[in-house]
Amino acid sequence: MSAPVRLQDVAPDRARFRDDVWHGLSLPRKTLPCKYFYDARGSALFEAICELPEYYPTRTELSIMERHAGDMAARLGARCLLVEYGSGSSRKTRLLLDRLEAPAGYVPIDISRTALAASARALTDAYPALEVLPVCADYTEPFDLPHPQRTPLRRAVYFPGSTIGNFTPPEVASFLARMARVAGRRGALLVGVDLKKERAVLEAAYDDAAGVTAAFNRNLLVRINRELGGEFDLARFAHRARWDEQAGRVEMHLVADRAHSVRVAGRAFSFARGETIHTENSYKFDLAQFAALAAGAGLAVREVWTDDARRFSVQLLSVEA
Ligand SMILES: C[S@@+](CC[C@H](N)C(=O)[O-])C[C@H]1O[C@@H](n2cnc3c(N)ncnc32)[C@H](O)[C@@H]1O
Repeated sequence: MSAPVRLQDVAPDRARFRDDVWHGLSLPRKTLPCKYFYDARGSALFEAICELPEYYPTRTELSIMERHAGDMAARLGARCLLVEYGSGSSRKTRLLLDRLEAPAGYVPIDISRTALAASARALTDAYPALEVLPVCADYTEPFDLPHPQRTPLRRAVYFPGSTIGNFTPPEVASFLARMARVAGRRGALLVGVDLKKERAVLEAAYDDAAGVTAAFNRNLLVRINRELGGEFDLARFAHRARWDEQAGRVEMHLVADRAHSVRVAGRAFSFARGETIHTENSYKFDLAQFAALAAGAGLAVREVWTDDARRFSVQLLSVEA
């Protein structure tokens, strides 16, 4: 039987979710924050996406981790506290944990309560000597970091999955600076950064033939209907994913197929035919561009591990001074 895992829970509540949805749907260009994709079903759909033939990022990042996790662990050093942003299933983390020397603890942070609780339980079973301190939070908001029983020699912030690409470049710089503050003096960041590539590969990754990403995108409306008494008709909204070369990002949208109006928690929002809700950005970077963003956040790129085709990178950044 699994040992109970205590979860520090400061995730956004229903009122916050409603206010964010009302705000996003009131904008001239409707948008919803991508963090709300991740309820229990959204997390399960994301795991299904990771197995799709078109979705190269997970496969590629895993291959980089399998090849270089030993080197990464050596660079992070003994007795480090590993803090992970958007930990999800923590699948990639296990490759690191297998190689880290006597880690002081592991702090997985995720907004998706069920996914976080399940992965924290599984990790506690798999690594009985490891102190696992899960935090259910929106990492874009301030929250307290739990203290492990063993004093760490260093903090390392792990942010895999190319989730950093959900932020615009100016936001990337400020989010890196925020993670650098969490890592503290002599701290390190290990970040999964997806790289620019051909349009066809990028668009297929976010619009797979089996329609799993479409279901993931529409699940946001399913969630609004369930949690906020929304009245979205799912059949009225099509999934769309497009690479915007100039902006350097894949945009995901939900496109209304006709003019109609939708009530959410007592407020009505009207849609024109073809009007979209912008649900996610996935920025892709080149190495020089990411290094410049890191430098702007007071971080230096110490190592870049990539796959042979240079599709994806895992980057070690150190906090300067
Ligand atoms: C793209 S998935 C990556 C999951 C995993 N790290 C991986 O590499 O496969 C993004 C993860 O970040 C979490 N997440 C997204 N936005 C978040 C936020 N604002 N605060 C906390 N967690 C968030 C999601 O629940 C999800 O587990």
